[in-house]
Amino acid sequence: MAGNSSAIRVAVDQSSIDFQFARDVVEGLSRRSKSLPCRYLYDARGSELFERITSLPEYYPTRTEAEIFRHNAVQLTAPIAGGDFFVEFGSGSSIKTELLLAQLPADVTYMPIDVSQTALDEAVERLRMRFPGLKVTPLIADFSDVSEWPLVLGRRRPTLFFPGSTIGNLHPAEASALLSRWRAALPQGARLIIGVDLRKGLDRLLPAYNDAQGVTAAFNLNLLVRINRELHANFDLGRFAHEAIYDPRYGRIEMHLISKARQTVTVCGRSFDFNLGEGIHTENSYKYNISDFQELARLAGWKTLSVLKDGNDDFSVHELETFVAPGRDEPAFL
Ligand code: TRP
Repeated sequence: MAGNSSAIRVAVDQSSIDFQFARDVVEGLSRRSKSLPCRYLYDARGSELFERITSLPEYYPTRTEAEIFRHNAVQLTAPIAGGDFFVEFGSGSSIKTELLLAQLPADVTYMPIDVSQTALDEAVERLRMRFPGLKVTPLIADFSDVSEWPLVLGRRRPTLFFPGSTIGNLHPAEASALLSRWRAALPQGARLIIGVDLRKGLDRLLPAYNDAQGVTAAFNLNLLVRINRELHANFDLGRFAHEAIYDPRYGRIEMHLISKARQTVTVCGRSFDFNLGEGIHTENSYKYNISDFQELARLAGWKTLSVLKDGNDDFSVHELETFVAPGRDEPAFL
């Protein structure tokens, strides 16, 4: 139960306090089942730890997806002609982006969309150096915000690129809403290249989120470090443990931070009680069957052009295209 102080109090000298973060944390910890929005995992330290996760021996998705792009880069980039737009969600810090960019004709415009100005600046500088012929037009926006797309894209048919199975971090209803929203902002014949992690045995799945070196644990616990630093909280890191479990009902990995004792924690001047074993739910990672994902995409207005997989059936890359279902009007073009 939350404590009885009703206002969110912050120190007056903390002029840079992020009120949205404060509100979200207080709201999440006040729930009967405590949870925190996963986007807050990615502060500077969190992003650094996530980079380390991607090269862990147990974390198969990143290297498997890169292998799929390496094998299929020519096919995936063939429809992209000079003057076209290649739009990436996230700021293209990865080898996966470069594998595709290396195949593009000279006057393609690469548009990374990211909320972080710093991440965009870094990526843009690096990519301009690696690909001097490439036009780079970064856009600062949340990936669900399509309001500026028509302005930048006109009626062009871009290729959108959404790797890393980030779609799996959304609830399927949210994933479907996101794909519908993108579809509605695009004309017919636009493409989406999207990475989707596949359902598989627990022997492969669980170690990927419970690595032996404890990097994933550090990544999860770093959320509490961030809350302590930015919201004047007093989480005792020694009294919380990382836990990743698979829930077969939803086909998802769940990340939790479990209280190792009965304790009370103060955040923004409010107190939150934890029972022994009580958790904070910090992240979901949904795994899909190929046909289930195709159906989700189809209902959101995207038809399958091709599905690419690795030899082990660990990971999939779907090449999708906007279409209009027979008998339906083209969705309102924004
Ligand atoms: N998109 C990644 C995934 O679902 C994110 C991720 C990997 C992650 N490892 C994590 C998120 C550990 C939280 C904790 O695989």
